[in-house]
Amino acid sequence: MSGSLTFPRPSRAASSPSSPFDAVIIGAGAAGLLCAALAGQRGRRVLLLDHWPKVAEKIRISGGGRCNFTNLHTRAENFVSGNPHFCKSALSRYGPQDIIALLCKHRIGFHEKHKGQLFCDDSAEQLITALREECAAGEVTHWQPCAVEAVESAAPGFRVRTAKGWVSTRALVVATGGLSIPQIGASPLGYRLAEQFGLPIVPPRPALVPLAFDPALWAPFADLSGVSLEVDIQTEYAQGTVSFREDLLLTHRGLSGPAILQASTYWQPGKALLINLMGEVTQAQWIQSKQGNRRTLAGELGQYLPQRLAQALCAQTGGADRRMADFSDKALRTLWQQWHAWAIHPSGTLGWRKAEVTAGGVDTEALSSATLMARNVPGLHFIGEVVDVTGWLGGYNFQWAWSSAAACAQAL
Ligand code: FDA
Repeated sequence: MSGSLTFPRPSRAASSPSSPFDAVIIGAGAAGLLCAALAGQRGRRVLLLDHWPKVAEKIRISGGGRCNFTNLHTRAENFVSGNPHFCKSALSRYGPQDIIALLCKHRIGFHEKHKGQLFCDDSAEQLITALREECAAGEVTHWQPCAVEAVESAAPGFRVRTAKGWVSTRALVVATGGLSIPQIGASPLGYRLAEQFGLPIVPPRPALVPLAFDPALWAPFADLSGVSLEVDIQTEYAQGTVSFREDLLLTHRGLSGPAILQASTYWQPGKALLINLMGEVTQAQWIQSKQGNRRTLAGELGQYLPQRLAQALCAQTGGADRRMADFSDKALRTLWQQWHAWAIHPSGTLGWRKAEVTAGGVDTEALSSATLMARNVPGLHFIGEVVDVTGWLGGYNFQWAWSSAAACAQAL
């Protein structure tokens, strides 16, 4: 543990005899499994419920089957939320070192791939097994598949109608994740429950998602599918401007790759994305390069960009085949400005089927950052992706799932 979270194990006799469960956790994904395990190991009587036949599908498919389970450089700045400070408390008490310790305990090999991203060496399946073993160690009751049909207040606590009948509980933890990839179990239940209990919702939207363009505008680039290059990308959002240096990938319908996925979380419909295609080449260097230069414009740009992309960009100017030496300084300055901040206007995203995560969710204003409990509904907690905290690409979303789960478990 890097922080102050410790999980002593009091006797289960401490539970109220009138309440069969101390906590019912809805959703056996990353957040729900860890929360159930830690609460169970504290001696809480926990029921973990999930409507989907397979446990933790998103862990299974993440990171190409190897799960990028955390990022060594996790900081609050790597998350997008209506309240950028909200995630700090949970992250400081259960950080990357804590989930690493869990993998080590279960002898799961892992490695760093890129910019602090940690992946399992072999398979994400090992992490799911480890979490299930931790739940077993906490004597968690796990019903899956089991639909949740209704939830009502029971003062104190809650009554939950499930496919297996009614259960009552002192605390209810909603860990139902976001809306992305509906084909493997995503549902809006978490948002519906928040609404039922009067909690505000920041409208959910697809994030870490490829962006699409008007087919007519994209036509000059549609044949370049598969071309990729490293770029600086910049976009505005409600709290300022954000930029990333990552790989950009051209597709038939638009743009993808880490640069676009990162920017998509911040991008607002109607706004432009600015992409620097000129890299480190300064305006002065670009203009100077025309001296005695017999290359064509497309040939020169192709020194810095994949040739096919250079050709398509230059074709738009009508001067692709003109020699560099024949351009005026003014014309070259204009071209440099255009490509140094290539302004593109996406028509939308590829939606929930392609989004890695959901931005927005249960408004953090309504939750305690220390316990993830609703301020006005004692015993009701929301953890993981269902909350309006969205991580960057690179293991941050799982880290939020672990951190918020552990903070909640400590409070159950
Ligand atoms: P999660 O989605 O894991 O779990 C929610 C659970 O709730 C599911 O088991 C679901 O079945 C259940 N549920 C939903 N509705 C229900 C209902 N009505 N009744 C009962 N149960 C219900 N992140 C990262 O950090 N590194 C990575 O490598 C990746 N890679 C990645 C790849 C792909 C393809 C996707 C789609 C996503 C990622 N992510 C990721 C994101 C990451 O998977 C995600 O942020 C976490 O799984 C969120 O954990 P949660 O536990 O909050 O939700």
